[in-house]
Amino acid sequence: MRLLFIGDIFSSIGRRVLADRLPALLEERQIDVCVANGENAAGGRGLTGNIWKKMRKYGVTAVTGGNHSFSIPDSAYRFMDEPMVLRPHNFPPGNIGKGTAICTLPDGRLLGIVNLQGRTFVHEALDCPFRTGLAAVEELREQTPCILVDFHAEATSEKGALARFLDGKVSAVVGTHTHVQTADERILPCGTAFITDAGMTGPEDSIIGMKHDQVIRRFLLQTHVRFEPSESGAMLNAVIIDIDDASGKALAIERIFERVTFSRE
Ligand SMILES: [Fe+2]
Ligand SMILES: [Fe+2]
Repeated sequence: MRLLFIGDIFSSIGRRVLADRLPALLEERQIDVCVANGENAAGGRGLTGNIWKKMRKYGVTAVTGGNHSFSIPDSAYRFMDEPMVLRPHNFPPGNIGKGTAICTLPDGRLLGIVNLQGRTFVHEALDCPFRTGLAAVEELREQTPCILVDFHAEATSEKGALARFLDGKVSAVVGTHTHVQTADERILPCGTAFITDAGMTGPEDSIIGMKHDQVIRRFLLQTHVRFEPSESGAMLNAVIIDIDDASGKALAIERIFERVTFSRE
């Protein structure tokens, strides 16, 4: 199966890139299933039910989250119960939503998805992503060997370590969260595709999505400065992964970095 994974969709520019490019990309590249990280889709922080509905319309099958999955009012949490909406699996039990899913392709093939959150420099009190991740993968493997892990983490070392830890047990470990795409895509020795970070789908002319003058001000002043999403530049960051259906092993991983000029402009 051919999987398209889209890096953190950021704010209105990211959503516009998705609307503009996704339907054509799915066709041009003959994608079987598209998974996207949507933790920044709503104004740079969180996701909403309405945005998820639009993402589905453009062709996203399942959406993953991260440290911003809960950056929305509690009253908006309800859509997180939908089967193809994920948030990191290793948040403590009792939170709404779930971190694993199995999606059924139109031809009946199955793709398991696990969303995990890194602890180093981000959420140090969360459950261990290695242990909880492995348990989740073992459960999904009872149904399918084709499994994607979105590891939403800051530290490159933590992402590399989790990928090696799961090598041969999952089809792909794709890092998200830093919004900066890395050029280290490869297939690990036991058949797992890996990239440290898929990058961000949003405003390229920004500091990881936000207006640069506000971010510089916060660094200079060391006090709170409100951040707003940049509205300048547009890019799509993603990876395409080919998976052998029978073994679940990755056959290829290709990094996508597209600068987008909107067709209606
Ligand atoms: Fe993000
Ligand atoms: Fe994040």
